[in-house]
Amino acid sequence: MARKSKKQGPGARGRGPGRDKARKSLSDKGGQGGVTPVPRPPAPVFTKAWEGRFAEATDPEVERFTSSFSFDRRLYRYDIQGSIAHTEALGRAGLLTEGERDTLIRGLKEIEAEIAAEGDRLQAAAADEDIHMHIERRLVEKVGEVGGKLHTGRSRNDQIALDLRLYLREETRTLLELIRSVQRALVAQAESNLDVVLPGYTHLQRAQPVSLGHQLLAYYEMLERDRGRFIDCLKRIDQMPLGAGALAGNSFGINREVVARALGFSDVTANSLDTVSDRDFIVEFLSAASILMMHLSRWAEDWILWASSEFSFIDLPDRFCTGSSMMPQKKNPDVLELIRGKTGRVYGSLLTLLTLLKGLPLSYNRDLQEDKEPLFNAADTVKSALRLLADLVRQVSFRKERMLEATREGFLLATDLADYLVLKGLPFRQAHKVVGKIVRQSLEERRPMEEWTLAELQTFSPLFKGDVFDSFSLTGSLQRKGGVGGTAPQSIEAEIRKIKRKLKG
Ligand code: ARG
Repeated sequence: MARKSKKQGPGARGRGPGRDKARKSLSDKGGQGGVTPVPRPPAPVFTKAWEGRFAEATDPEVERFTSSFSFDRRLYRYDIQGSIAHTEALGRAGLLTEGERDTLIRGLKEIEAEIAAEGDRLQAAAADEDIHMHIERRLVEKVGEVGGKLHTGRSRNDQIALDLRLYLREETRTLLELIRSVQRALVAQAESNLDVVLPGYTHLQRAQPVSLGHQLLAYYEMLERDRGRFIDCLKRIDQMPLGAGALAGNSFGINREVVARALGFSDVTANSLDTVSDRDFIVEFLSAASILMMHLSRWAEDWILWASSEFSFIDLPDRFCTGSSMMPQKKNPDVLELIRGKTGRVYGSLLTLLTLLKGLPLSYNRDLQEDKEPLFNAADTVKSALRLLADLVRQVSFRKERMLEATREGFLLATDLADYLVLKGLPFRQAHKVVGKIVRQSLEERRPMEEWTLAELQTFSPLFKGDVFDSFSLTGSLQRKGGVGGTAPQSIEAEIRKIKRKLKG
C-alpha cells in the first residue's frame, strides 16, 4: 500500500558499499567529531524482498514502470498452486519440517481465498512488483518469518514460467472445448440443412450450386485444423519448469519429476537456461489463435455479406445486432464485424511476442514480462468470439427461398452442361467452349439456358440429346458430386457420420 517512508537519508545515497555501513560511518563521525554535530539520518525504510544489496529505495516512477501487478494478478491461482507444490517438494527434500510445510500451505490457501474475495479491489503494496511478491509478502505477514522459506530453491524466473504454463494449459483446454461447441452447433445445422441449395462462390461470383450443409461443414473443417494446432501446442506447454531456479537449476536436490506429477505435467523441461527464457509455447498458442481468428474472420465476412439486403441469405437474431443512432431502419451485424475486427489484435499479440523474443540473449530478461498482456488479451478475445459464434450458429435463421432464388441466375449449371458433353465423348476443353458460347448467347438474348429447346442446343453440338435436361436440375447437380468431400447430400451425410463418431470419442 502506501510507501511508509522512502525518504533517503544522506547515508542511503549510495556512498558506502551498504546502507548499514554508510549510516554507521556517518554517525561515528557525528559522535567523534563533536564540532559540527551531524544529525542522525532517519533509517531508510526498504520494503523489497531483494533490498539487501541496495543503498537507496526504488524511484516511484521506476516502480510504476516495472510493475506487472495490474495484469499478472490474474495468475494468482496458478501461482499459489505452484507454490503449494513447491512447498511440498521442500518438505520432501528435508528443507521444511512437517509443521512448517503445513503452515506455509495453510497460509497460501488463505491468501488464495483472500484474493478471490477481493476480486478487482485487490491492492498491491507499491513494493509488490508483481503477483509473486504480493503473495510472498502476504504469506510472511500471515505466518511470520517461516514464510521466508517458501522461495528456497526457486526464482521468479522459473515461477513465472510455471504460472504461464499452468494458465495456458487451462486456457487451451477451455479453447478446445469452445471450438468443439461451435463445431457441434455447425454439425447440427448442417444436418438439418442438407437439402438446402445455394450458390457456391469463387471470386465472390456465383459458381456452382452447393448444399448449405456443405458450406457449414467447411467452417467445421477449418476449426478442426485449429483444434489440431492447439492440441499440438499443448504438448509443449505440458512441461514443468520449476526447479530451473533463476537460470542454473537449484542446489537443493528438489525432485522435479515429483513436482511435475503433482501439478499434472507429463514431463519436466530439460535445460534450466532454456526453461526460464523459453516462451515458444506462447508464440505457438498465439500462432494457433491467429490462424483460428483468421478463419473466424473469413466466416464472419461470409455472414456479414449474407445478412446484407443484397444477399439476404440469413437473418441474425436481434440480440446479436445493434442499430444506428441516426438511421432508424438499421440493424447492423456488429458481433460479426467485431470478430473480423478483433482478429487484428490477436495478430498483434503474435507479432508482439515474436518481436519481444527476437534477439533476446539467454536466459531470463525482464523484457519477458511484456509477454502477458498480449497473451491474456488474445486468449480472452478468442474465447469470447467462440462463445458468441456457438450461440449465433444455433440462433441464426437461414432464408432458404432466397438461397434457392439466387441459384436461378448466374449459370450455376454451366459446368454440369459441359460435364454432360464430356460424358457423350467430347474432350472437356471443347465442351467448355461449346457451353461458353451457349452462355454468351443466353446473355445476349436474356434467356436462361434452361429454357432452350433441344433443337436450339443442337445447333451448338449434335451431342445434345433428350436427356440433356437432367443437367439442369439442381439436385441432380449436387447428387453427381458424390465422392468423398463433394457436396452431394449422401457425401455430406457420410461426413457427418464420421464427424459424430469423432465428437463422441
Ligand atoms: N514479473 C516478472 C515477469 O513477469 C517476474 C519475473 C521477475 N524476475 C526477475 N528476475 N525480475 O517476468
